Amino acid sequence: MSRRALTFVCQNCGAAYGRWQGKCEACGEWNTLVEEGDSAAARIAGPGRPPRKGRKFALEPLTGQTHDAPRQPSGVAELDRVTGGGFVRGSVLLLGGDPGIGKSTLLLQAAAALGRTGHRSAYISGEEAVAQVRLRAERLGLRDAPVELAAETSVEDIIATLAEGPTPRLIIIDSIQTMWTDAIEAAPGTVTQVRGSAQALIRFAKRSGAAVILVGHVTKDGQIAGPRVVEHMVDAVLSFEGEGSQHFRILRSMKNRFGPTDEIGVFEMTGLGLREVSNPSELFLSERDLGSPGTAVFAGIEGTRPVLVELQALVAPTSLGTPRRAVVGWDPSRLSMVLAVLEAHCGVKLSGHDVYLNVAGGLRIQEPAADLAAAAALVSSLVNAPLPADAVYFGEISLSGAIRPVAQTSARLKEAAKLGFGRAVLPESARGEAGSDSGLSLNPVGGLTSLVAEIAARGTPRGNRDNSAAEKNATPARFRRQEG
Ligand SMILES: Nc1ncnc2c1ncn2[C@@H]1O[C@H](COP(=O)(O)OP(=O)(O)OP(=O)(O)O)[C@@H](O)[C@H]1O
Ligand SMILES: [Mg+2]
Ligand SMILES: [Zn+2]
Repeated sequence: MSRRALTFVCQNCGAAYGRWQGKCEACGEWNTLVEEGDSAAARIAGPGRPPRKGRKFALEPLTGQTHDAPRQPSGVAELDRVTGGGFVRGSVLLLGGDPGIGKSTLLLQAAAALGRTGHRSAYISGEEAVAQVRLRAERLGLRDAPVELAAETSVEDIIATLAEGPTPRLIIIDSIQTMWTDAIEAAPGTVTQVRGSAQALIRFAKRSGAAVILVGHVTKDGQIAGPRVVEHMVDAVLSFEGEGSQHFRILRSMKNRFGPTDEIGVFEMTGLGLREVSNPSELFLSERDLGSPGTAVFAGIEGTRPVLVELQALVAPTSLGTPRRAVVGWDPSRLSMVLAVLEAHCGVKLSGHDVYLNVAGGLRIQEPAADLAAAAALVSSLVNAPLPADAVYFGEISLSGAIRPVAQTSARLKEAAKLGFGRAVLPESARGEAGSDSGLSLNPVGGLTSLVAEIAARGTPRGNRDNSAAEKNATPARFRRQEG
């Protein structure tokens, strides 16, 4: 293979090719190949120097002295929750997120909080001038925070500068796409440059013990743009998410070598910056549309924390040949399964209906425990019967239509009671774990059929809405009767 080979590099996944082609065979993307002069891949693959004689090193046993990874809390509790208790010294973290979602804001707040604990913290912006960053700091009320600031893009210059004096505890690089290194000839912004710059910064982090956070831009389909390879190089990948129209922001970890990946951090974007939300349930339920059909409150668990959130369903006769199925914030295949079980075991015919399901507040639910709440919301919308406003739902639905138990029943019930809910609809088999001291009245269900029957009995057919106001205020006596 000649040295000139492998100079077309896919900007999506980093695969290298000898000649241009329309489609990248590695990741399947179109028109992502760009010629990149002397790419790193070419140098690795090329014939290069004669082989060097290996140097011997000592092999170590698995047993031996270990220390807990030394951590440096940032002082932003929701961020520390997601990283697993603070930044591990010498680790590198990649933070992705849509344009304008608040990445720079979050990291400037973290850098300031850490700086105020007396440690050295640095914020290097490759996108904004120092004056712009200062303006943001002023708006956030952080003007006097001891953060070392620079607008720089040369990785060598940044490392040389920060290597002087005491090691910074935290270095923010905003963003990795703007960085470039002398060691590589490719143009700034190309995958090769991004990868090379990340490599150099990772080496510096490991050598110095500083924690480094790289900001990464996200493409329209939610991938961290270009350097998928960087995701493999770093110790943790966090993503900052939110819906444009709403003020909630959710920080999630996609990969974490030193901590869990199921914790979320919740923030609210305000004029004074990001405010930490330590009780997300209150936020997600703050705009509830009480008494309207098609909504059910799901008592979920995110990481170690119970989170209550509203599921909203709309089931309406379709005007198209193929009915629509749309879901936001939940797994579409899970929805298909719940619909299939409703149809097969409960006689709920939905093939002539469009179905929409939305998780309020921009949360994304991964738990199968949401099945029961989703089913309740769907049936409630179909029969036009509001569910009791003070009820929470959780439980997994099996293909046979049985309601299966889920983990952490008592944590879910405790959170519901704390937020003023009065009843819980939960799997029959969880009754034992729930105990009697939850403060909630329990409505255990063994199968989906009985739940559907209960909800349907409350319903008024669509088009005959005169009774619906009375329905809304009626005490859901049927639920009480079921309990005995
Ligand atoms: N004066 C203000 N009052 C309230 N919110 C503001 C104000 N100025 C900016 N914001 C919020 O901050 C957001 C921008 O945050 P930030 O610059 O941290 O985002 P980013 O993710 O770093 O964006 P980019 O991808 O462009 O770097 C805006 O979308 C807006 O919601
Ligand atoms: Mg920014
Ligand atoms: Zn590719």
